[in-house]
Amino acid sequence: MITGIRTKRAAAAVALAALLTASVAACGQEAKGGSRYKPDKGKGGTVGLAMPTKSSERWIADGKNMAKQFQKAGYETDLQYGDDKVENQVAQLENMIAKGHRLLVVAAIDGSALTDVLQRAKDAGIRVISYDRLILGTKNVDYYASFDNERVGELQGQYLIDKLKLDENKDEKFNVELFAGSPDDNNTQYFWNGAMKKLRPYLKKGQLTVRSKQTKMSQATTLRWDGGTAQKRMDDLISKNYGSEDVDAVLSPYDGISIGILSALKSAGYGTKSKPYPIVTGQDAELASVKSILAGNQTMTVYKDTRKLARQAVQMGDAVLTGKKPEVNDTKSYDNKKKIVPAFLLKPVSIDKSNTKRLIDDGYYTEGQLK
Ligand code: GAL
Repeated sequence: MITGIRTKRAAAAVALAALLTASVAACGQEAKGGSRYKPDKGKGGTVGLAMPTKSSERWIADGKNMAKQFQKAGYETDLQYGDDKVENQVAQLENMIAKGHRLLVVAAIDGSALTDVLQRAKDAGIRVISYDRLILGTKNVDYYASFDNERVGELQGQYLIDKLKLDENKDEKFNVELFAGSPDDNNTQYFWNGAMKKLRPYLKKGQLTVRSKQTKMSQATTLRWDGGTAQKRMDDLISKNYGSEDVDAVLSPYDGISIGILSALKSAGYGTKSKPYPIVTGQDAELASVKSILAGNQTMTVYKDTRKLARQAVQMGDAVLTGKKPEVNDTKSYDNKKKIVPAFLLKPVSIDKSNTKRLIDDGYYTEGQLK
């Protein structure tokens, strides 16, 4: 009898030890593989990073920076690019949910197209951070990390006003054409509103004229921020409205669009001593545009340090996963129609030929890259 009990106890102890060893090993394995290891709280597990496209340097940098920083903070990462196709991004998010990732950081291709997939994320207990672009029409967004988007537009609008010296030369009149970003990106409206808040008084006074009369945002948008689309529109605007007169300024919301606009201007004979390029704004301080600014073609850009944005998103994500409260500095501005999403907004900086050094001082580019 005694021997029997002892044997049973010993067998149970061996079985328990085996079970513990197996489950510890399984945990270790799965954590490494980044699949189903999913602690409720604390470090570990996988963060899904859903970025829109590789066609622009900035998103490549955003993705890389976040992956590096999340890994340093103790998480595995799954970085995916949607090739600017909404259905790709939705499929990538579905896949991340199926793999049991703990957090999704999403720069949406179409801000309104993620309601269903994020409901599934919510049902699976997965947290969501909206990155740079606000996700619309769903309660299932926890936080938003971005730049002050209206301020970006203000910087672009104010730059045109200052450069044309509209406040000093009240009798001079200038021609301007207006471009907006992708209509499915929530930022587009903010950039446009910021710029038009600055430009509208001068349009009203007649100091600025839009010869094409395309002054509504819906007439000026550029689907998926595509430079080729902007180039075609600019070709068209020039040929239909600028026979005898010149374009003096172009409001462009993003460097990729600015490059397209400059190509159209070049084809129409701009960029010479007798017919210089108009003032052309931009955004993102992409390398090609900073070089273009130094060469005297594009005039300005808005610098948004993607390393800082990545850091902010990683801090938010880490806080959410470890049960802490993320730092926010705006709880009013970003209403996604289902909730006001608490946000951390960084400050954008206006850059032209006079202060490109800032990019080198910040270590954003090396001196060699800008040569
Ligand atoms: C916006 C973003 C801009 C620019 C643009 C095109 O959402 O805020 O900085 O990158 O997309 O990629």
